[in-house]
Amino acid sequence: MFEIGQEEIAAVTEVLKSGRLTRFQAGTDGYLAKAERALAEKMGVKYALLVNSGTSALMCAMVALGIGPGDEVLLSAYTWISTPLAPMLLQAVPKLVEIDETLTMDPEDLERKISPRTKAIVVIHMANLPCDMDRIMEIANRHGIPVVEDACQAVGGLYKGRRLGTFGAIGCFSFNNYKNITCGEGGAIITDDPVLFDRARLWHDAGTFVQSYDAPVQIPMFAGQDYRASEIQGAMIFEQLKKLDGWMEQLRLRVKRMREIVEEVGKYRLAPHNDPESAATVVLQFDTPEEFDQRVGVIGWGSIFQNAGRHIFINWPPLVEKRAYRDDVNPYLTPAGADAHYDASAAPRTLDLLKRSAYLTPAWNIDLAKLEADTRAL
Ligand SMILES: Cc1ncc(COP(=O)(O)O)c(C=O)c1O
Repeated sequence: MFEIGQEEIAAVTEVLKSGRLTRFQAGTDGYLAKAERALAEKMGVKYALLVNSGTSALMCAMVALGIGPGDEVLLSAYTWISTPLAPMLLQAVPKLVEIDETLTMDPEDLERKISPRTKAIVVIHMANLPCDMDRIMEIANRHGIPVVEDACQAVGGLYKGRRLGTFGAIGCFSFNNYKNITCGEGGAIITDDPVLFDRARLWHDAGTFVQSYDAPVQIPMFAGQDYRASEIQGAMIFEQLKKLDGWMEQLRLRVKRMREIVEEVGKYRLAPHNDPESAATVVLQFDTPEEFDQRVGVIGWGSIFQNAGRHIFINWPPLVEKRAYRDDVNPYLTPAGADAHYDASAAPRTLDLLKRSAYLTPAWNIDLAKLEADTRAL
C-alpha cells in the first residue's frame, strides 16, 4: 500500500551522510528515537520500540510477558508462521484457536480453549481485519490472561475508532515490504506498561546498557539478543508514519465504495466485519468451497484472491512436523506439548472458511474504475 517518496530518500541520505547509522551513535536525537516518539504519539500509547522485524516484535512481546517452558499461548489459526514460532522458540506451546466468518479469532472458541496453562492470547488482525476486541478483552480480562495484538498486517488500522495494537498489553507491528508502511524489513512493539517496555528493550538488545534512550531502563538487566533496528530503518519509518493516516483513509474510502457496489449488485455476500465503519478490507464469502471455485473462477478478476498458501497452518512445516533445532528445546517433547497438533483437525472451521472466502481489496495500485465496472457487470 505504501509508496516511497522523496522524503524517505532525503531522510535516508541524511543518515548515510551523517555516518551515524546506529542508535548508539545517533542517541536520542536520532531517527529511531524520533520515529519511536512519533509512533507512540500516533498510537496514543506511552512507549514504542522499533526492532528489526515483526517476528522480533513478537519475540519481544513473549519475553516481556515472561512466556517460557510449560506455558501455552493461544493464537488464531490464520496468521503468518512467526506468530506461533515466537512462543515455540521460547519452549512454550502455541495452540490454535479457530477463526469465525470475520476471518479473525472466534471469541467462543477462544474461551473453550483456555486452560490452566494458558499464559497469553495472541490475536491477529490479518489483512487489516480487526478482531472483535470488545469480546476478546472481556474474556481475557475475566480469566486474567494478557493479550498481545499481532497487528503486523494492520499498522494504522482501527477498531471502533481506536488504533489496533492498543487494546492488549502489547501491540506488535511489521514494516516488511508487504505491510501498510515499510522500511524493507522492520517492526515495532507498543505498550503502556513501563516494565513490559523495559523487558522488551532488554531482550531486543544485549547491549541495552550502553544505549541512550529518552528514559533509561529501570529493571535489573537480563541477557538479551540483537534485534536492533538501524537509523536507516528509523528514518524511513519516521517519514512513512507521516503518510500512514492519509493512506489508510484513502484505502478505507476505496473499501467503502467497493462494499457499497458489492451490496448494490447483490450477487455476492460480504463477510461480516467487526467494525464495518472503518473497514480497510473487502472479503467476499461463499457458502461452499465448490461455489467459490465455480464463481470466482468464472469472474477471473485480477484483484480478487484467496489467501490459501503460506498463511494457513497446515502449510507450516516446522509446526506440522513439530521440530525444533534440538530435541531438548522442543516443547512438543514435554507434557505441555504432547497433544498439540497442527494437522487439518486442529482448526477445521478455519480451513473451511478460508477455502470459501476471497479478498477484493482495492489497494492503491488497483484501478478502482475498472474494478467498479467489473463488479457492476457481474
Ligand atoms: C500476521 C503476521 N505476523 C507476523 C509477521 C512477521 O513480520 P516480519 O516478516 O516483519 O518478521 C508477519 C509478516 O509477514 C505477519 O503477516
